[in-house]
Amino acid sequence: MSKTHRIAVIAGDGIGPEVVREGLRVLDRMAAQEGFRVELSHYPFGAEHYLKTKEIFPDAAYDEIGKHDAILLGAIGDPRIEVGLLEFGIISRLRFGLDLYVNLRPVKLYAEHLCPLKDKGPDDVDFIVVRENTEDAYAGMRGFFKKGTPDEVATQEIIFTRKGVERVVRYAFELARARGRAKKLTLVDKANAVRAMDLWTRVFAEVGAEYPDIAREHNYIDAACMYVVKNPEWFDVVVTSNMFGDIFTDLSAMIQGGMGVAASGNIHPGRVSLFEPIHGSAPKYAGQNVANPIATIGAIQMMLDYLGERRAATRLEDAVARLLRSKRLPSLGTDSGLGTNQIGDLVLEELEQTASKV
Ligand SMILES: NC(=O)c1ccc[n+]([C@@H]2O[C@H](COP(=O)([O-])OP(=O)(O)OC[C@H]3O[C@@H](n4cnc5c(N)ncnc54)[C@H](O)[C@@H]3O)[C@@H](O)[C@H]2O)c1
Repeated sequence: MSKTHRIAVIAGDGIGPEVVREGLRVLDRMAAQEGFRVELSHYPFGAEHYLKTKEIFPDAAYDEIGKHDAILLGAIGDPRIEVGLLEFGIISRLRFGLDLYVNLRPVKLYAEHLCPLKDKGPDDVDFIVVRENTEDAYAGMRGFFKKGTPDEVATQEIIFTRKGVERVVRYAFELARARGRAKKLTLVDKANAVRAMDLWTRVFAEVGAEYPDIAREHNYIDAACMYVVKNPEWFDVVVTSNMFGDIFTDLSAMIQGGMGVAASGNIHPGRVSLFEPIHGSAPKYAGQNVANPIATIGAIQMMLDYLGERRAATRLEDAVARLLRSKRLPSLGTDSGLGTNQIGDLVLEELEQTASKV
């Protein structure tokens, strides 16, 4: 009996539906080649749905989505709608509600010509960022006082809990061990200025004592931004807070080839987890067939790995790596000269080439 994976799909806004369409073609082909089954449930949430119905994300759908094995998200966000309304109502609701406390962002360069850094190649850019995903300023504890007046005060609380920091730090130590590469974990924070981050410093030391085989390093976020450009080879596994992780991983994405290739998993180990490209809805490119679907295909690779389809995940990663090394994609941006669907075709061709060897 072949295994069935139940996947909830929210294609979302902007370029989301285009990149998800290509991702699902690849997922479908993987299932056929590897002998597992996929049951998809599509959900319409996002800008168009909101404009038509005034509904952001109904409770019944949220509950139903949580009962799947995994969730695939395209992107959420639309300039016609109040800033943050849909992002908070859909993305944050899933991340916080399902307690997806790890945001995992691999930064891996597959081919030297895709890296904007001089003299850096695939051996230099291969690390993974573990971003805390449920706390920090993103917890939504905010307010305005005397809004719109010259005396206005705006606040938003940065929240770190002992439990929240400890579980993500422990996950990162385990990952550094499992990766077995440099066996090094770098804590990135700003404890010198944001003194609440002393909690991270203490937890990192305490949990780290249980992992004597993992070397511990520390960078302030400003220095980490410098090092990731100057010496990306210094990083193996990075653990950081929600906001710093958000920013640091967009910068890191650029050295692996750009937003067109960067994928992520929002994970609660052992529970339903969500996989998505790290990019947003890129509204100005929506409907033009120029967005690169490789980031979404990378998210599907992470999802397959999470679901236990390790061979499929490895084959998919190898197929993407071969395609990128072949230089058939001159860039991973919107200027590659290839349509979103044509890039999907190229990945399928690569998969076809190794299918007979399975
Ligand atoms: N998880 C999410 O759904 C998510 C993440 C980030 C931003 N957003 C939302 O998306 C909207 C747009 O945000 P933004 O413009 O700041 O960031 P964005 O990531 O959508 O786009 C920034 C730029 O990156 C490039 N890019 C992004 N995806 C690409 C792809 N697949 N292929 C090639 N190039 C790509 C484009 O040049 C684009 O203009 C906003 O509403 C924002 O809130 C959503």
